[in-house]
Amino acid sequence: MYSSSSVSRIILIYVSAIQLLLINSKLSLNVTNEYLNHTCLVNQGKYKLGSEYDKLFKNIMKMFYKNSIRGYDLFGDSTFTAILQCRGDSYGPKCRDCFVTALAALRRRCPWYKGKIIWYDQCLLSMDSKYSVGQIDYDNNFCMSNAKKVVEDGVTFIQVWNILIGDLTKLATTGDNYTLYSVGEKRYKGDMIYGMVQCAVDLSRKACQECVLYNRFHFQVCVNDMRGARVVGRSCTFRLEFYPFIAKQVRNI
Ligand SMILES: *[C@@H]1O[C@H](CO)[C@@H](O)[C@H](O)[C@H]1NC(C)=O
Ligand SMILES: *[C@@H]1O[C@H](CO)[C@@H](O)[C@H](O)[C@H]1NC(C)=O
Repeated sequence: MYSSSSVSRIILIYVSAIQLLLINSKLSLNVTNEYLNHTCLVNQGKYKLGSEYDKLFKNIMKMFYKNSIRGYDLFGDSTFTAILQCRGDSYGPKCRDCFVTALAALRRRCPWYKGKIIWYDQCLLSMDSKYSVGQIDYDNNFCMSNAKKVVEDGVTFIQVWNILIGDLTKLATTGDNYTLYSVGEKRYKGDMIYGMVQCAVDLSRKACQECVLYNRFHFQVCVNDMRGARVVGRSCTFRLEFYPFIAKQVRNI
């Protein structure tokens, strides 16, 4: 058992090495922290300098800065909910850098708005002027997909895709040490498809599953047949690519 799995791992590494040689720059891990999107929740109104909201906001952001090193932070009371969620492989200084970038960008892009969300490749930072901890956000989700379509046998591809996302969701939400985050890969014909699922730290396992399921259904058209797509939201996110995009993406399911 042990040796057969090592052999398949060696083959896997060998195949990846060939892929890397063939399309080297496209496949190399892109470690830049790409800006994805933001939204100012204008209907929640604005706050003023020196107001209670402003004081609370500043205190919580100080706390977030300190705790960002562990990869996430969360605060919620009846007037203010804030969440920092870094990607599962992004903790320590990487998460802190992303937090600092995100906070500065939110100040610039949504000045004085009480509610605002910003997404980067490595993190999400969200504020809300009410208590929203643990609630699935069905409104603030979006999909980004590659223009290139899978040309051959779309049906098989969608099946593989769905199995991978389903397996990853299960992996992220079950077991004693579930983390609401999982990565994995699956073979599709000659290619490997690399996937990731993550939910924000405030969600329960059940809410996480529901969120992913909702977005899988809602964004079918954007995602199906595409050689790479991601659905990103305040509560959950998933992504599939034909190249590895996570540091140490090794789990094969
Ligand atoms: C990495 O990401 C940046 C930001 O989106 C992009 O401009 C750049 O072309 C990417 N590099 C590679 C090698 O994919
Ligand atoms: C940005 O996010 C909002 C949801 O908050 C979405 O409606 C919009 O389409 C997204 N924009 C892009 C370019 O994906």
